[in-house]
Parts: sequence; structure tokens; C-alpha cells
Amino acid sequence: MRADQERDTIKGGVNTDLRHDSAIKHVTGRAEYCDDIAEPVGTLHAYLGLSTRAHALIRDLDLGAVRTAPGVVGVLTATDIPGVNDVSPTGRSDEPIFAENNVEFWGQPMFAVIAETRDAARRAAKLAQVTYEDLPHALDPEAAQEAGMGYVTPPLTLKRGDTTKAMATAPHRIKGKLRVGGQDHLYLEGHIAFAIPGEDEDVTVHSSTQHPSEAQHMVAHVLGVPSNAVTINVRRMGGGFGGKETQMNLFCAVAAVAAKKWNRAVKIRPDRDDDMSATGKRHDFVIDYEVGFDDNGVIQAVTGEFAARCGFSSDLSGPVTDRALFHADNAYYYPNVLLNSHPMKTNTVSNTAFRGFGGPQGVIAAERIMEEIAYHRGVDSLDIRKRNFYGDAGRDVTPYHQTVEDNIAPRIVKELEDSSDYQARRRAVLDWNARGGTIRKGIALTPVKFGISFTATWYNQAGALLHIYSDGSIHLNHGGTEMGQGLNTKIAQVVADAFQVDVDKIKITKTTTEKVPNTSATAASSGSDLNGMAAQDAARQIKERLVDFAAERWQTDAANVRFIANAVEIGTETVPFADFIREAYMARVHLSAAGFYKTPKIHWNRDTGKGRPFYYFAYGAACSEVSVDTLTGEYRVERTDILHDVGKSLNPIIDKGQVEGAFIQGMGWLTTEELWWDQKGQLRTHAPSTYKIPLASDRPRVFNVELAKWSENHEHTIKRSKAVGEPPFMLGISVFEALSHAVASVAGYKTCPRLDAPATPERVLMAIERLRG
Ligand code: MTE
Ligand code: HPA
Ligand code: MOS
Repeated sequence: MRADQERDTIKGGVNTDLRHDSAIKHVTGRAEYCDDIAEPVGTLHAYLGLSTRAHALIRDLDLGAVRTAPGVVGVLTATDIPGVNDVSPTGRSDEPIFAENNVEFWGQPMFAVIAETRDAARRAAKLAQVTYEDLPHALDPEAAQEAGMGYVTPPLTLKRGDTTKAMATAPHRIKGKLRVGGQDHLYLEGHIAFAIPGEDEDVTVHSSTQHPSEAQHMVAHVLGVPSNAVTINVRRMGGGFGGKETQMNLFCAVAAVAAKKWNRAVKIRPDRDDDMSATGKRHDFVIDYEVGFDDNGVIQAVTGEFAARCGFSSDLSGPVTDRALFHADNAYYYPNVLLNSHPMKTNTVSNTAFRGFGGPQGVIAAERIMEEIAYHRGVDSLDIRKRNFYGDAGRDVTPYHQTVEDNIAPRIVKELEDSSDYQARRRAVLDWNARGGTIRKGIALTPVKFGISFTATWYNQAGALLHIYSDGSIHLNHGGTEMGQGLNTKIAQVVADAFQVDVDKIKITKTTTEKVPNTSATAASSGSDLNGMAAQDAARQIKERLVDFAAERWQTDAANVRFIANAVEIGTETVPFADFIREAYMARVHLSAAGFYKTPKIHWNRDTGKGRPFYYFAYGAACSEVSVDTLTGEYRVERTDILHDVGKSLNPIIDKGQVEGAFIQGMGWLTTEELWWDQKGQLRTHAPSTYKIPLASDRPRVFNVELAKWSENHEHTIKRSKAVGEPPFMLGISVFEALSHAVASVAGYKTCPRLDAPATPERVLMAIERLRG
């Protein structure tokens, strides 16, 4: 036996810390992104021409100067689309690639210019002469409601019990309104698509999309060809965060149409300002709530109206606003509840998926309600939270009639309360503020419960393709995409574990529609749940064949065949894995398999508002302490402690990275990241110069992040792990509520501050001034 086989455990199995497979390549710049792919000779570059009106008829689109600009090969408008001029992901046909008769938001694509260089295309795109006839526009949900703009997609109602009666008989009632801002994804790599024409109808598109199968179908639809003519490839994205779930479809389509028209490779990559203006963001919400509760602060009824800025088309606004309602309970039991979504059409870019997918906007409403009750009753909001947690039978049914079977929120919160020394620190904060200085402190401990599964039940399926070559090396492909979250690393660990081979024996390959068909978006945090199971299924099939082969070849019982570290043990004999595979190949064993998985147990009826949309829940809690300068509104996060539940972690170090990153991104959403449109509807925060994401220096001064090591998924997920991508995003709410706590101190904690999100220093200052006034 060779030395490396003497170890009895493999390198990179499941539940071990294994660094991201591309970590070194990321930091050394050797990771290949879409824009790094070598361009074939004659590659052309496309650039979009965008509208400069929020709502107008296009009286004339004069592209003469564009066509004759240096380096320009041609232009594409709606009439150049061979198939259908639409990239609506939901089949509502409300999202043209190029506006035809009217524009419905500032930054809407009207045409594309194709040129020899990107610079030439970009300069030429500015030369269009457009004659508009302005129409009235509504930019935000409230203006849209006033203007009667209507919904972009049917609204949802969740209802249980009798809220009218329960509200009327509740000893106390509070009504409130909360405005929660949107968020730009600010992925480091912007949108990009690179199309290479093939023979006949064929086209291959390299792109930075979270949803290759949808991009494939969209390109086919737009070209008017069957899906089998289109291949989409994704090696990795430089971040997606939901922003590349549907928004890439347009870029893929434009590149593909141009590539087929001129029979040359075509690349399209907007610059940051155009990327931010022309592609969707997180939905901002205006939330009106009412809560009825008893003297102890125990909730008796909740009503909520959730109006969202959806933009000019539906995109994913239906499932996003649905998910907001699904999370308006967070971890709390509402005995009587009525929740309505209002997916408002607005004259802004069509908003889309963003980490949490509407969930954060629901959760923050629940947390505001807890704060309201706490100030009303004059007690610590943590006590109110605990009194309202889901509990045993009778207190365990959600507003969508799913029973919470795995409630570990109370345990997570209790452990964090102890490990963060919450009680003593809260007392210290109150003592500090009692001195009445300029710098005030605040502390808050907030939980999260997040439902895992796509609410579109059919999305919860995945496939994988696994080959073992005759030298024992393994080629792995699955339907998920890598955007930095470490999905490929985790799936490789699952396969390494199945065959008991070192993880570096497994080649992680690009995602391509040619190998695994009809995949779902890598989204809803479900990438490793779904694709991990599919890869395991493929491995199981090959293993079964290998075991049968070994039993026959070595004349033993199948029970005597074991995959041990980098070898196969057959009775008393141990054969190195590669030798074993060679023998299997010589004996004509089929060494390739396609795996498949679909999530069990889930169902959802949107019409009745009842079902079990989620396979399980992921939990977590964060405690944040802030200090606020009450003269300027400036603040900083002094300390954050997190305890987060990822079940039995596939890879603790990667999961911890996800928790840290999500928390910071959630904190950014609620603090510094502010989207601002002027009255004409132009987004004025369209670059990092005006749009402030958290810097490394904004991270909490003390940052203690732990995974709940005891947790195991009670459902049969891949190795009993839980999804991690989105749930910790909502831990950022602890910073928002801590800021609110510091603000409340200026008026002796008598009133719950009116604080909207993002709580920029300006808003914090205004909240302080309102309380003082
Ligand atoms: N982490 C990194 N580094 N980059 C990303 O773009 N996207 C998040 C999350 N974590 C993202 C990320 C979002 S929105 C989702 S839904 C999940 O990763 C998707 O991947 P998963 O399902 O494999 O966790
Ligand atoms: N989450 C994320 N993306 C989605 C979902 C969801 O629930 N449904 C459709 N796309
Ligand atoms: Mo994540 S918003 O589901 O891509």
C-alpha cells in the first residue's frame, strides 16, 4: 500500500473544513470568469441603448448617427428579433428585450449597437436621437397606489382565524407603518454574455447566470429555435445574490441574436452605471401593520399590508412578494392573522430576486412588531420575542397552515443570550445611556426562521452527471451554478464521501445545459440540498454496479465489499481505488450515471393559501451592539455575536463564510445602502461613488460567529445539513433594532422610534430629532 493510502480518512470528506476549490485562483486572479474566455478572431461587442424617460411614447427612434459611428457593424431593435421580443421568466409576456412603442422606466433598453470594439459600441450607443412624448409616471408603491397603477402579478392573501374579532377584543392595539428600502446586488462581476454561433440554428452562450436552463429557453424563444439548438455554459460567477437569476436572460438573448445575425462571436457587458440602471434590485416595501396583544405582550392578532415596488414588469415579483408574507411571522405564533401582498406596478426597473427573496422584508415587519409591543409594555424586546415564539401543539401553525415541526429558535436564542452575555451588556448599555452623553448605545438580539424550498414546487428538482474514467479520476457535473458560495466544493465533498476518495480526485466542471437538462435556478439557498442529493444518487448507481461487479469477480457477498479511504475492501483483500476501477472497466462495468432528486413532502396551494411550501426551516440569531453619535446620526457596530443553524454542516468553514457575508450584506441593506431616484425617475445612485455598501472597516469591531454544532436537520437532507445561503442575511436586522434602541434612549425608551430602512445616519438623526421634539 502506498503512503497516501495509509490514512484511514479521505481528504475533503463531508463535515470537514475544506477551502473553496477556487480560493487561490480567486485571490491570484487566475480564476476564469466569462470575460476572461479567449475571444475568437472577429469577436464583436454589443452595447445597449437605454431610455432617458420613466414613462413615454417613443415618437421617433433615429439611429442614423449610431449606425455610421466608427467601428459600428449594425444595430438591433425590436424588429430584428427573429422569434419573440420577450424575456419574461413567468410567461406573462410583459418584458420586451427592446422597447417598441413606449418606455416604462428610465434605463429601459431600446436597441443594441454592435461594433468591432466595446468602446466603439459604447460610444455609439449614446448617439441615438429619440423623440419622446412624456406620460405620467409613478415611481414608488404609494404613488402607484394613488395613480391606480395596479398589480404586475396577482396578489396573495394568507389568513388564519378571525382577525377582526381578535383585534377588537385585544387589550392593546398598535398600528404602524414601515418603509423598507431596496438594495442593489453590487456583485463584483457585472452582467455578461458571450455568444458563439454554431452551424445550422446552433448557438453557445457563455454567461454569468444563476439559471442556465432558463437562459437556454429564453434564447431559444427569442431566436425562434428549439431549446436543443442552444447551449448555455457557466463556469463561475463573480457573485450573483439573486441578481443573475433572471436578469441575465436579456443579455444572453441580445448576444445570441447578434451572433446569429452576423455569424460572429458577440460579447455584451454593460458598465457598472448601466448595469445598475437597467437591471432589477431588491424590492422596497411599504408595510402597514396592526397588532393586538395582551398585558404580557402576547400577540392575539396581526394584520399586514405589504406593498412592493415591483417595477414595470412582473419578473419574479409574484414569488418575492409571496415569500414576504411567508416570513411576516418570522419565529412567532400569530393566533389570528391576515396578510395581503400588493405587488405594485411602478415606472422603475423591474425588481427581482435578492438574497432572502422578499423574506427579509417580511421578517423585519415581525421584528418591528416585537419592538412596538416591547416599548408599549415597557419591557425588554427579547422578553416579548420569547413570549411569542412558536410552541407546542396549539401554538405551532404558520399563517400558511404549515406546522412548525423543528422549532429550535428558543434554544438558539437562549444559547446566544448566554454566550453573548446579553443581559449584563444590556444593563451596561442602559447605565451608559442613563448618563445622558452625546454617544448613545443600543443592543438588540433578533432571531430568524427561514423556510427552505422554492415556493414554486416544481423548481425543487435537480440532476447530476457523474463519470469515472478508467484511470479512477472522477468528472462531476450538476445543475447548480457556482457564484462564490462554495456549491461546487460541497458537491465534490458529497461525491468524495460516497466513493471514499480524496476530494482532489474529483474534477469540478462548468455548468452546462448539455450535460444536465431542465435545471432550476441556483437560488432559494437550495443549491447543495438539491444538487447534493442528485450527485449522491448518481454515485449510488455507480457504486451499486461496482459492488455487484466486485462480489462476482471476487466471489463474495456484496455485504463484504466496502469503499474505504481511496481503496475498496473486498473480503480480506484491499484494492486501490484506481486499480479497482481499471478492473471494473475491463469487465465492462458502466461507469457513468445521471442522478436525480426531487424534494419530498412539499405542496402549496396558492388559491387557498394552505400547504407545506417548505421542507424545513433554518434558524439563527444575532446580538448586535451599536453606538450612535446623537449630534450627527453617525454610528458604528461595536460587537455582533451570531449563533446560526446549518444542520450538520457539509463544510463548516464555508458555511461560516456564508453566515458572515450574509450578515454584513443584511446590515448594509438596513444601514448605508440607499437607492435614490430623482423626480424624473432616474436612478441617481448608480455607482459605488453614490451607493454605499459596507466596507471591511464597517464590520463589527468584535465579531463572534458560531454554528450550532449540535444541530442536525430532522428531515432527510443531504447528510442532514441545512441550506445556508440566505437565512443569515436577516441577522442584519439585529443592527437595525440596536440602532432603534440607541435612538429610543434620547426619550427614555418611552416610544418605539419611527425608523425606516435603510437607517442611514441622516435617518437616525431625524429619528432622534423627532423624539427630542
Ligand atoms: N455567496 C456568494 N459568495 N455569492 C453569491 O452570489 N448568493 C446567495 C447565497 N450566497 C451568493 C452567496 C444567494 S441569493 C443564494 S440563493 C445562495 O447563495 C445560492 O447558492 P446555494 O443555494 O448553493 O447556497
Ligand atoms: N426563491 C428564490 N428564487 C426563486 C424562488 C424562490 O422561492 N421561486 C422562484 N425563484
Ligand atoms: Mo437567491 S435571491 O434565491 O438567488
